Amino acid sequence: MIDIHTHLIPNVDDGADSEEETICLAKAAIEEGIHHTILTPHHNLNWFKNEKDKVINLTKKVEEILEEANVPLNVSPSQEIRMNEEFIDELLAGNYLPLDKEGKYYLVEFSWGDFPSFGKDYLQQMLDHDIIPIIAHPERQKAFLEDANLLKELIDMGCLSQVTATSIVGGYSERVRQAAHDMMQANLIHVIASDAHNVTERPFNFASALKVLEEEYSSDYKEYLVSNAEKIIHSQQIETFKK
Ligand SMILES: [Fe+2]
Repeated sequence: MIDIHTHLIPNVDDGADSEEETICLAKAAIEEGIHHTILTPHHNLNWFKNEKDKVINLTKKVEEILEEANVPLNVSPSQEIRMNEEFIDELLAGNYLPLDKEGKYYLVEFSWGDFPSFGKDYLQQMLDHDIIPIIAHPERQKAFLEDANLLKELIDMGCLSQVTATSIVGGYSERVRQAAHDMMQANLIHVIASDAHNVTERPFNFASALKVLEEEYSSDYKEYLVSNAEKIIHSQQIETFKK
């Protein structure tokens, strides 16, 4: 399995805070059945600035660390990009890292507060350029929790969205768990990822989330959310789940 949203690079954001933690996270990924994680450090969130070249170089470093530690996890560089006012100019100038090689998919994070006034305009500009925004963890964000129609509007435009494994199993709060399930039942979710930051407070929870999907939804739905990660990394088109 592929995990498209992780914070394994040490000491660049609120993710892994040492090389040892990076190795522990990578081992945990393997144990959960994940063979490839896309490294998506925060970019433009508060003081976290993880520019393209820096992430590419640090991903090579993570590869070396994992090779040295004999952990057979593949990694590739990307970013979890906070949408700010400069976002669209920077993105179209090629200053951000997509999730895939062809530059079709970008992981976009919105503010934890209100949805930005320029949000829909920027998303539409991406779509007009055949770039598909993947909205990170809407089930955990105030704007989407308070306005149930907002995510539907963005998905109807052509955006995709990523649910967090931990949300599915109720690891954040009951409200977030419920929101995750409401969004999945409304067919507004396209891919599952861990957003793993460390092995204690914010682990993968992939296997347990997949178990819930299998038990409460169907094997087909579980497979849909898992296999779309593979499609994303290979720049393939993602269809809506057919119930
Ligand atoms: Fe994240």
